[in-house]
Amino acid sequence: MPHLIGPRIHLREYREDDFSAIRSWINDPEVASHLSPIFDRVQTEAMTRTYVDDVLHNRIPGHRFIVADRDSDRYIGQVDLRTTDDPSHQASLAIVIPRREDRGQGYGREALTLLLDFAFDRLNLHKVWLEVFAANAPAIALYESLGFSRDGVLREDVYRDGRYLDMYLMAVLAREWRGRRRDT
Ligand SMILES: CC(C)(COP(=O)(O)OP(=O)(O)OC[C@H]1O[C@@H](n2cnc3c(N)ncnc32)[C@H](O)[C@@H]1OP(=O)(O)O)[C@@H](O)C(=O)NCCC(=O)NCCS
Repeated sequence: MPHLIGPRIHLREYREDDFSAIRSWINDPEVASHLSPIFDRVQTEAMTRTYVDDVLHNRIPGHRFIVADRDSDRYIGQVDLRTTDDPSHQASLAIVIPRREDRGQGYGREALTLLLDFAFDRLNLHKVWLEVFAANAPAIALYESLGFSRDGVLREDVYRDGRYLDMYLMAVLAREWRGRRRDT
């Protein structure tokens, strides 16, 4: 499992003791409101246990990292790069920084910079894409500032709280990421 080290955080493998940090937010409705509809359902301890065990035993494809403070190793969040075997060299990503006081501190930008360097320089991927709620302005601002483009709108894609919500499909290509890294 790769270990990606940045100035303030590192992306490391899951450990058994991350279970309680994950449980602390997994049924928080504010956090869930930004994430996939899977989180609209109550997540039991057994469900979280199965997920963590699957990650620990490499039973889920792709790369799943804990975002942690580089010095103290404090859990800050999670980021996934979901690769497949298909020949188009793509992966999707997902990120969560669950605690409100950790947001807006630059952790998300640093985590995604490490992840995109890994995706394009080490895995040699061609494209990284994601889906985001059209109303999630902070996340969209972050993705655009990292070079993601809005490739499409999934209109009225998720039914939540009595309304159908639009999702944006966003993506960044390897050459776009490398060009941006050269310019900064
Ligand atoms: C979205 C999320 C990953 C961003 O991570 P973060 O650590 O809070 O963001 P950063 O501090 O690295 O900010 C990076 C950029 O994001 C944008 N941003 C962050 N917070 C913002 C806010 N409240 N309003 C508008 N833009 C914001 C800005 O462009 C910012 O760049 P700047 O600092 O140069 O202005 C994080 O807030 C989060 O996990 N939120 C809840 C779950 C979620 O929305 N996940 C994404 C699902 S697609």
